[in-house]
This record gives sequence, C-alpha cells and structure tokens, in this order.
Amino acid sequence: MKNIILTITLSLFSVTAFAAGGAVHIDSAPIDTSDMESVKRGAKHFVDYCMGCHQAEYMRYNRIARDTGMTEAELRENLIFTTNKKGEPIKVGDLMKSAMTPEYAELAFGTEVPDLTLSARARGADWLYAYLRKFYIDPYRPTGMNNLVFPDVAMPHVLQSLQGTLEPIYKTEMRQGVEVEYVVGLELIKAGSMTTEEYNAFVADLVNFMVYLAEPIQNERKSLGIKVLIFLVVFFVLAYMLKKEYWKDVH
Ligand code: HEC
Repeated sequence: MKNIILTITLSLFSVTAFAAGGAVHIDSAPIDTSDMESVKRGAKHFVDYCMGCHQAEYMRYNRIARDTGMTEAELRENLIFTTNKKGEPIKVGDLMKSAMTPEYAELAFGTEVPDLTLSARARGADWLYAYLRKFYIDPYRPTGMNNLVFPDVAMPHVLQSLQGTLEPIYKTEMRQGVEVEYVVGLELIKAGSMTTEEYNAFVADLVNFMVYLAEPIQNERKSLGIKVLIFLVVFFVLAYMLKKEYWKDVH
C-alpha cells in the first residue's frame, strides 16, 4: 500500500515538474479597446487572415460598422467580400460566418475550427497576443509548426509570411534522473514582410478587435460604471450633509 501511495505521489510530482519546466512567459497585450481605429484595423486583419477557417457567428458586420464609425460603403469595401451558400452577396446585417464546414475542417486539420467570437474571454487578450506570435518550426508536426502557448496545435501559422520563421531554442535539464528537453525561447531565422515591431503592432490590433468582439458593449459599460461611481460619491456627500443638518440640534 505504502508503495502505491509513493508511486502515485512521485508520478504526480514529476508531471508537475515537467509542466512547470515548459512555463512560457506571456507578455501583457498592448491593447486599448477604446481605440476604435485600432479595432477597425483589427477587424480587417481578422476578415483577411482568419475567416477563411474561423467564424464569429455571434457578431453582425453592421454592428462593427456602427461601433467603429464605418459607413456601409466602407464596410463593403473593407470587410465583406464573400457570398452566402446560395451565391447571394452577404448583407451588411449578416452574421460573420465562414464557408468552412465542420466535415472539411475535420478532413483538413483533424479537428474542428473553433468559433472566435468569445475567444478573447475564454483565453484572455495576453494569451491571444502570445499565441499569434509564438509559432515555431517543428518538423514532427503535420503543419511543420508548433506553438509555445498551445502545444501541438492543429492550426497552421497563417501569418508566417508577415512574421517570418521562428526557430526554438532548447534547453536540456536533468529532472529526477530523467533528461527533459524544453523550449526556452524563440529566434527569428528568416524575416517576413514585416519587422518584429510592425508584426507586434499588427497582432495587437487583431487582438484588440477580438477583445472588442467578445464584448462589444464594454466601452459603454466602463464609462457608465465611472458615471455611476461619480454619482454615488456626490450622493454620499449630499446625504452626509443632510444627516448633519437633521441631527445638529439633537447632539
Ligand atoms: C487554415 C485554417 C485557419 C486559419 C486561416 C486560422 N486558423 Fe485559427 N485555428 C485553426 C484550427 C484548425 C484550430 C484548432 C487548433 C487545435 O484545436 O489544435 C485553430 C485554433 C485557433 C485558436 C485557439 C482557439 C482555442 O481557444 O482553442 C485561436 C485563438 C485561433 N485559431 C485564432 C486564429 C486567428 C486570430 C486567425 C487569423 C490570424 C486564425 N486563427 C486563422 C485553423 C485556422
């Protein structure tokens, strides 16, 4: 019995040690959801680079136009390029659907392609910012690429032509007598069409859009929250003065 408990405890420890070894530093995403110009740029990147596979089926195109101050003509020029299943042009009020079917996704990637409407809420902006910047070469993966924050991911690095190619820097360590190899960093070995700063800014706009997408009302919510707090402070002062006035003869 003692042996069994010891084995279980030891194996738990080694699993934790392994997981901790691969811990990745995640920078905080430099985004500002009140910057609607950045959200607008991000929306365009999203349509251009992501919607071939993913959809955001809880969002309508014209909601983005309304929130970012785009006209219908701008919306058509920047974000709407496709037709629906019947071959009719997409309407400005349509949901942001992709043509990829679950069957095709299964065939191509061996898994489903998740909807991205709420992805920023599920994963957080910082994770997304890291995910889109930390694809690296791995010849053992079907796409030739792996990801530091999403190990063995099925998604190809669709932004590689912009970012360039990153190679992993490995570190080997002895842990409880076992040799463990893990990635400690990434190095750019082939430049893409953008510099690292340009690419980071591109991804920041994209993530900013995805954060907006996950909660389009958030700017209104925040500004309403501040107004309510200011009202409560003013109300507190008035109520306090009134209380003083009422009780001044009693005390
Ligand atoms: C060629 C198809 C394809 C394109 C284009 C694509 N993706 Fe993906 N993406 C996938 C697949 C497949 C997965 C599922 C990966 C898995 O489960 O291993 C995925 C997963 C993801 C995830 C992880 C979702 C989660 O929480 O598990 C995010 C985030 C994501 N993609 C963002 C993007 C963004 C942003 C773009 C545009 C820059 C993009 N993808 C373009 C195929 C694609």
